[in-house]
Amino acid sequence: MSESKGFSSSFGAIAAAVGSAVGLGNIWRFPYICGQYGGGAFLLVYLCFVFFIGMALMITEFVMGRRTGRTPIFAYESLVQSPKQRLWRYAGLLGLVTSFLILALYLVISGWTTNYFAESLVGAHIGLDSVAISDHFDFFSTSALRPIVFIAVFLLITGAVILGGVQKGIERVSKILMPVLVVLLVVLCVRSATLPGASAGFAYLFKPDFTQLTGQGVLAALGQALFSLSVGMGVMIVYGSYLPKDDNLLKTSIWITVCDTLIAILAGIAIFPAVFASGQDPAGGPGLVFMTLPVVFNSMNPADGLPIGTIFESIFFLLLVIAALTSAISLLEAQVAWGEEYKKGKSQRTRNTIVICLLMLALSAILSLSNGVCGNFTIGGKSLFAFVDQLNSIYLPPLCSLCAVIFLGWVVDKEAIRDELSNHGTIAIPWFKGFLFLVRFVAPLALIIVLVTGIVNSL
Ligand code: PHE
Repeated sequence: MSESKGFSSSFGAIAAAVGSAVGLGNIWRFPYICGQYGGGAFLLVYLCFVFFIGMALMITEFVMGRRTGRTPIFAYESLVQSPKQRLWRYAGLLGLVTSFLILALYLVISGWTTNYFAESLVGAHIGLDSVAISDHFDFFSTSALRPIVFIAVFLLITGAVILGGVQKGIERVSKILMPVLVVLLVVLCVRSATLPGASAGFAYLFKPDFTQLTGQGVLAALGQALFSLSVGMGVMIVYGSYLPKDDNLLKTSIWITVCDTLIAILAGIAIFPAVFASGQDPAGGPGLVFMTLPVVFNSMNPADGLPIGTIFESIFFLLLVIAALTSAISLLEAQVAWGEEYKKGKSQRTRNTIVICLLMLALSAILSLSNGVCGNFTIGGKSLFAFVDQLNSIYLPPLCSLCAVIFLGWVVDKEAIRDELSNHGTIAIPWFKGFLFLVRFVAPLALIIVLVTGIVNSL
């Protein structure tokens, strides 16, 4: 792969990778599971997982991508040392399938988000009480056409960015949208944190309550760390192949991890103090954003005059759309880049993007319909949506992550790893041994525990 196909600068690379990492996982998922499993106690465990295991995985994927300049299947294939080991390419294939399925689910929730943004712009939730808002969400998410229309709109925007290419599409959009996202988030944090009664929200989020931190919570923390850093399905292998050759991979990974974690914490600050200040239930689970928050924003609207709460609601859903967009871009890029590499040399980016977008639209439409009209079709008693969600949260990402660390730790030539991490011996990497220890022992053990427990619990 020629260098000009990659990101043009370190800043652009970090913006794009932070864009991938910061998504629905940070703003929709992190706050509610953090609240659910003991606030500050969960946060401490999460921080350990993110900075040790999550970051080790990110470096692993970056090394594989940048060393080979290729997408997952071919990256695995190029790093093996004997013909027998070529079987490892199936680990790359597993990653590709996982990112395909995650994107389909992601699109459904991104479609909901886009719809809620549009609704908030026209003030559709003004005056509705909590029961009416819950009914509205149930009605909308189970209806046939409307969610699919919004999935299509969101996918169209995502596809258009991919068509723009790596530098002019992904990098340029990320460089603009990530700072916008931070500004919007800070505006919401200031509003939420200065409401009367906000302190209860801070206590909920930050006061460690170790009695709430169950084994389940520890597993959830590791799962969330992987999902939030976008590792475990090869997306970071693809972005790694676009990284500048002189980038310090450790520094880049630290930047991405710190930004991702700070944004997740800020999202908690934007949400919980406001939820407490308006007397709503903080344990809204996955429905927190779509059912609880519109009520919270309504409560900020004055009886007459400017509906300031609804303006904050629009800001919030715009923030969520931006976060989801830059993540969906990375998931779609993983598919398109593979298609390009598969058809060696011939650049068929436009055709690939259109074909993959159509496939994605079909799959996410089916998943969306399985929440409503096609709900009768079940697999193991679960709707298709719930089934794919379970695959994506419990089995596939930890399995793909396990493959990646075992591969790098035990199969790939150590000197090649050292050479890549030290930029061919030009930077010192005194942490190399520690990294290898994490990749060879700590991460596999943790991932095996997560996988086995996940499987046992779901039986
Ligand atoms: N990290 C994204 C989020 O937090 C999700 C994602 C996972 C994106 C895997 C790309 C790859 O929402």
